[in-house]
Amino acid sequence: MTEPAWTPGGSNLVVHADNAAYLPTLPDGAFTMIYVDPPFNTGRAQRRQQLSMVRNADGTGDRVGFKGMSYSTVKGMLASYDDAFEDYWDFLAPRLAEAWRLLAEDGTLYLHLDYREVHYAKVMLDSLFGRECFLNEIIWAYDYGARAKRKWPAKHDNILVYVKDPARYHFNSAEVDREPYMAPGLVTAEKAALGKLPTDVWWHTIVSPTGREKTGYPTQKPEGLLRRAVAASSREGDWVLDFFAGSGTLGAVAGKLGRRFVCVDQNPQAVEIMRRRLAPYCEPAGRSSA
Ligand SMILES: C[S@@+](CC[C@H](N)C(=O)[O-])C[C@H]1O[C@@H](n2cnc3c(N)ncnc32)[C@H](O)[C@@H]1O
Repeated sequence: MTEPAWTPGGSNLVVHADNAAYLPTLPDGAFTMIYVDPPFNTGRAQRRQQLSMVRNADGTGDRVGFKGMSYSTVKGMLASYDDAFEDYWDFLAPRLAEAWRLLAEDGTLYLHLDYREVHYAKVMLDSLFGRECFLNEIIWAYDYGARAKRKWPAKHDNILVYVKDPARYHFNSAEVDREPYMAPGLVTAEKAALGKLPTDVWWHTIVSPTGREKTGYPTQKPEGLLRRAVAASSREGDWVLDFFAGSGTLGAVAGKLGRRFVCVDQNPQAVEIMRRRLAPYCEPAGRSSA
């Protein structure tokens, strides 16, 4: 089967493909918002020991150097890093460069990671987009699962937000769901009834294993999380894209909010789940795949 072709006036798409092969088929600037939640790569550890030479006046060094001088070998920092990390950024960097190309001039990228990769990602996106294009780091805070006893239990993810053009990006906070005030007694009744705008820390439960939202796909993200991002950073009718789409959470939110979407995943199980979940928003032809 051939991959469905995207056209500006066409149907929402669920695409079964390696995103590296599919993204180059899409035209520049087609998407107002891109959300991606790539897989984490935990792999083999590489260790590198730094060594340096220090001249040794009393001749007791372990090496002889220039003009017969004695030198001692001094062990420096033991650098240890996950070998898969190098592979990971080789994998992710070109795909994020495609994301930049595909964003409209008023567009926004949301990159969902966790503490393992987010700091490297910040440096990489600063160089790809420009530091002035960094908008936010959103912390998604949740509370479930076991608690480590020998360190602070990690209970948050990080979402880096970059805009294509800091002078032109779309952001409409009026569209965002509001939160209850922590101390409603300290504000007027009207304000308390309206609630407050969320900050860059979003408390939200994970997808409940028994809830209606659950698709059975691992690492499924809650719709409530993505609803905020889609509502603020796109308008009705705009195109949004997720090229690590998994169970299609971005598509589900986009469909409900009247945005148009392209969801790409290379895993056949993900595509099967998305086709079922996103069927109400896709024309049958738009659900064919590679
Ligand atoms: C963390 S999951 C995304 C979960 C999604 N946000 C959700 O709410 O269900 C990452 C997804 O990326 C997909 N993926 C990994 N490498 C890919 C590639 N090269 N092309 C397309 N999809 C890929 C995996 O199959 C997986 O479904």
